[in-house]
Amino acid sequence: MFSERLKTCADLSEACIRDAVPAGVLPVLEGMRYATSGGKRLRAFLVMESAALHDVPDHQSVFAAAAVEALHAYSLVHDDLPCMDDDDLRRGLPTVHVQWDEATAVLVGDALQTLAFDLLTRRELHADTAVRLDLVAALARASGASGMVLGQALDIAAETAETPLTLDQITRLQAAKTGALITWSAEAGARLGGADIAPLRSYAKALGLAFQIADDILDVEGCAETAGKRLQKDAEAGKATFVSLLGMEPARQRAKSLVDEACDALAPYGERAATLRQAATFVISRDK
Ligand code: IPE
Ligand code: IPE
Ligand code: MG
Ligand code: MG
Ligand code: MG
Repeated sequence: MFSERLKTCADLSEACIRDAVPAGVLPVLEGMRYATSGGKRLRAFLVMESAALHDVPDHQSVFAAAAVEALHAYSLVHDDLPCMDDDDLRRGLPTVHVQWDEATAVLVGDALQTLAFDLLTRRELHADTAVRLDLVAALARASGASGMVLGQALDIAAETAETPLTLDQITRLQAAKTGALITWSAEAGARLGGADIAPLRSYAKALGLAFQIADDILDVEGCAETAGKRLQKDAEAGKATFVSLLGMEPARQRAKSLVDEACDALAPYGERAATLRQAATFVISRDK
């Protein structure tokens, strides 16, 4: 069952991060624990479920799951900063720069980013150094200037662009901003298992886009209390999103057909991929 598996992956990855953050009461350390609590943990689930599909046990894959959740948490801490989206609510709590201050939020993000790569070098993840190096290199590409950071830069630039982005441009922006880390997560299992990453890559590319369309829909019609973050921000910022470009119903339809596409990509795994298929449905029906 997807919801049970998601909970297991959430708990294990959170414990792994807890163990990895140095003990102490400095704001930066408390901020790291704070920023990595809660959340849906979809990326941790994708890592651990795709790993299980290749018979890689949870006690190994949890290090990669914790790594991507730490990296994702860093991206959110920085995304919420006054110079970026200027948000005061995340996962139902005040954002890190509100709870502490901006300098702490910058440092928490920095430290969570390096923690992610630290976790991927741990021997407990995989005995073969080459496999760990492959994961490190792939995560560096997925999160840097050709991945998440590129997407964030394009997103910020779009706010002040003279003409709204086209659907093609938005699709490329989102594939980098959200898609790259989701893709890394789903591919991680195949990398750990020494298998072909192609089916999981196709699955994740469709899933990532569906996920972002759902985020855009949520921004328009979601409830901030349930979502745990401020909504109606995209229209306020004059951002072109899938919803603003396609309209609400067509955006919903597009997300649905992407979910079908994601599920079809798992055909080589047959019934064993049932939980990953349930995750695809969850991604577009979520309210947070
Ligand atoms: C939010 O990501 C930011 C986007 C990439 C759209 P999530 O919706 O996965 O946030 P958490 O981790 O559950 O808080
Ligand atoms: C943030 O996208 C994506 C990353 C942090 C990479 P958004 O700005 O749309 O995310 P929310 O809506 O604040 O969660
Ligand atoms: Mg943003
Ligand atoms: Mg934001
Ligand atoms: Mg959003």
